[in-house]
Amino acid sequence: MVLLTLVVLFASVVAGQDYTDEDRAHFPRLFHLDEYDRCLAKTDGVYCLGSFELTPAKLPHPTYELMRKYSDESYRHFNRTRIHRGYCLSLRCPTSTLNLHNATVDFEVTDTIRFERCADFYAQRHNLQASLQTLHYCHTHVDIKTDKPPSAAEQIFKQVIYALVLANVIGTIYDVFVEDGPNKNKLLSAFSIPANWRRLTYLPDGGDPRQTALVALDGIRVMALGFTTYAHASVFHYMFHTINPEYLEQLTQRWDGIILTDGTSLIQGFVMMSCFLTGYNLLMFSQKHELGIHLLPLCIIKRYIRITPVHLLIVGYGATWWLYTRDGPLVPTTIGLESEACKAKFWYHVFLLNNVVDSSNYCVVPTWFLPVNMHMYILACTMVLLFWRRRCFAVRLYTFLLITSCLLTAVIAYMQEYKAMIYLSLPEQIRRIFRDTPSFTDFYLSSWGAIPSCFVGLILAHIQHEIDLKNVKLSEYKWFVYLHYGSFPLLFTWATTGFFMQGNYSPVFNAVYVAFDRPFYCILMAIGILGLIHIDGPIRRFYSWSGWRSMARMSLTVMMLHWCINMSIGTRPSAFGTSVLDTLVDWSATNLFTYAAAVPITIMVEYPMQRFLEKLLF
Ligand SMILES: *[C@@H]1O[C@H](CO)[C@@H](O)[C@H](O)[C@H]1NC(C)=O
Ligand SMILES: *[C@@H]1O[C@H](CO)[C@@H](O)[C@H](O)[C@H]1NC(C)=O
Repeated sequence: MVLLTLVVLFASVVAGQDYTDEDRAHFPRLFHLDEYDRCLAKTDGVYCLGSFELTPAKLPHPTYELMRKYSDESYRHFNRTRIHRGYCLSLRCPTSTLNLHNATVDFEVTDTIRFERCADFYAQRHNLQASLQTLHYCHTHVDIKTDKPPSAAEQIFKQVIYALVLANVIGTIYDVFVEDGPNKNKLLSAFSIPANWRRLTYLPDGGDPRQTALVALDGIRVMALGFTTYAHASVFHYMFHTINPEYLEQLTQRWDGIILTDGTSLIQGFVMMSCFLTGYNLLMFSQKHELGIHLLPLCIIKRYIRITPVHLLIVGYGATWWLYTRDGPLVPTTIGLESEACKAKFWYHVFLLNNVVDSSNYCVVPTWFLPVNMHMYILACTMVLLFWRRRCFAVRLYTFLLITSCLLTAVIAYMQEYKAMIYLSLPEQIRRIFRDTPSFTDFYLSSWGAIPSCFVGLILAHIQHEIDLKNVKLSEYKWFVYLHYGSFPLLFTWATTGFFMQGNYSPVFNAVYVAFDRPFYCILMAIGILGLIHIDGPIRRFYSWSGWRSMARMSLTVMMLHWCINMSIGTRPSAFGTSVLDTLVDWSATNLFTYAAAVPITIMVEYPMQRFLEKLLF
């Protein structure tokens, strides 16, 4: 209650001048798209997309002044003095219309000049002048209607798909018709569809109780992924042309928008869980086997084999066929842009350096997570393989390193002026997925930024291992039970701290927040997870539902593929209205298609390739 009052209090402090719908109705529309297909169907069709800067045609211009003041509040408003237009020049501004307004027009004007004059012509209604700021493209009938031969990348991708399908057909036939026995070729039967389907849907009963205790993590993973895809579904609406951008402006100030923004720390929870599982499994392994740093290459190769086939498949898809899933005026600036990056950065993806090199050139944005996770995996393995014998010392060391890395992050954030997500999430920045924001490309996407989360995971692994060894019954400690149940609401409450931050920016405070926000989030999650392992209550039963199991096994594919699918769904050929309901619709459709596509990808690519390569190498 106290918190709520505080939130309301701060929210009212933060909010600046309020603008009415009528004020906004005087502004020129922020986005507009003419019909694309109809335009270019005509042989003389010309379609241009670009952004224009508006300036007053004559002074004084009260509406323009208001627009400027409105745009200066960039923390919550789009820049209304910059408008975005997709015009069918051939229909909207035939050369004759423009002549009426400019006697000196020669007939040889280029499309670019025509586009600018056309926008200017319409801006004059508002007593404004429009000058072209960015031209994305001008397409003509010939550009669109001539069939291009498939590129080399497309041909290679097609061959890869054929090869995969063929391998699956042969593998399945072989597996079905050849009896099990020692002579059965493991390389071929790796591609058996029924066997891999069983792996995907397999529900273990019994087995190692330490492993069964971990099943609730599957539910957590699926739910966290669902939250991530919802946040992305909202981000997509900023990227496209909407008819009611006011809604998106308000969203950055609303509690649900703030939770979505601050909830981005959740992705560090994935890093933490992955390092926890790595550390915990190695520690369990160490009870029966000797560990040593010589095992590190083996660990890395095994992990690499698991993630790379799907990763490259999706990057390959991004570079080739993705572009053909949609047709429309925005395709070149959304799917096209990332598709180019996929072609240019393919080899960086192969070596998991895509978040290090050219990090602002995104190819399927969520793929940044794979190198981060891999680098942290290597760190976690190295640490455990070095210090597994001296666990007590290790925990002290990790705690020390956790605090040191947080402090270093704060120092770097202060010096480089890296800002917390809550200060970054301005409508204009989200619109460009933070492309030219170093706080995002150099810090948020970086591997080093995830180091604290990794240490939280490792410490949790040691705690859990000691609890196992000493047979401690955590559920008998009342304070821990309360802490566990409290950790889930706290996760959400913590995300609303953004409310307090928003209006009060100070460099020192920001640096401290940047450094401790994500580790604190991970610690809360770690408490929640530890409770899930030990306390048999409603939360655990919910997260242990067997339905989560198969979904969690597909999370690698889902994590990357949902971006492609959501982008294809969202790149509509005309400007559309947005609201919570529209976001929910996009989100549901994305999840439906993504999970449907993830089933074949997991059983026909991820599992068989992993088994095949393991058999081949070891
Ligand atoms: C809005 O856009 C115009 C034109 O690009 C630019 O000059 C101005 O600085 C921008 N305003 C803000 C607040 O970013
Ligand atoms: C006509 O176009 C020329 C550029 O070709 C420009 O300098 C001039 O200002 C325009 N005149 C009007 C009335 O728009």
